[in-house]
Amino acid sequence: MSDAIDPDRIDAAVEHALTRRKDYGAERLDEADAAADPIAQFDRWLAEADERGVYEPNGMVLGTVDADGTPSSRTVLLRGVDDRGFVFYTDRSSRKGRALAAHPTATLLFPWYPVHRQVIVTGAVLPVDDAESDAYWSTRPYGSRIAATASRQSEPIASRTELEARVAELEEQYPGVDEVRRPERWGGYRLRPWRMEFWQGRTSRLHDRLVYARDRGATDAADGAWRLERLQP
Ligand SMILES: Cc1cc2nc3c(=O)[nH]c(=O)nc-3n(C[C@H](O)[C@H](O)[C@H](O)COP(=O)(O)O)c2cc1C
Repeated sequence: MSDAIDPDRIDAAVEHALTRRKDYGAERLDEADAAADPIAQFDRWLAEADERGVYEPNGMVLGTVDADGTPSSRTVLLRGVDDRGFVFYTDRSSRKGRALAAHPTATLLFPWYPVHRQVIVTGAVLPVDDAESDAYWSTRPYGSRIAATASRQSEPIASRTELEARVAELEEQYPGVDEVRRPERWGGYRLRPWRMEFWQGRTSRLHDRLVYARDRGATDAADGAWRLERLQP
């Protein structure tokens, strides 16, 4: 593997990206058409992203802050959304899990490029309860259960061979799917939003940005009402 960087190749790649610059379509996001409830608006856009063929529209970039203040991000899959918030599953001892333990606040970014849309959700994150994590775990196939059990997510490992040996050992130990119980460190989180921004790309970069925001109460029931505000693009 060569470390040499060819500046001409980088220039050519940037040039290529620029020539592909697209003018976004005629779609718009008006206050009059936006749902009163941002979760309803999100459901609408998620369904449209799916109908229009966005690949994995439930893929979202989770942004967190490590204990020392360093930001980090990674893709996770949305596994449920309702009035209580957005749910995803992971290993809670991973880097993101440690970050969420230190700072239980995060953003979720849905990059729906093919439909010229983006949604960014910000809020407080709490682990879902064991019963809910168990219910989701029970829908996971054997291989995914073994993999989650074998992998200490985000920890270094000497080789792929070592990881595969651990998998083989677990497969022998637990030959049936129901025998592979949910590891305690693996489970769900729910992000309870206090800000949701909907971005609709428009012609000549004069995009629409509508933000729903609410004041945070001490309990869910004490959360304020959603307010809608337009931001400059
Ligand atoms: C399309 C896609 C979906 C993913 N879904 C998940 C997921 O639902 N849960 C998860 O823990 N990791 C998921 N990952 C892997 C994460 O991006 C990440 O590598 C892993 O969670 C470790 O992140 P961390 O070290 O920052 O904690 C997914 C990656 C991709 C590309």
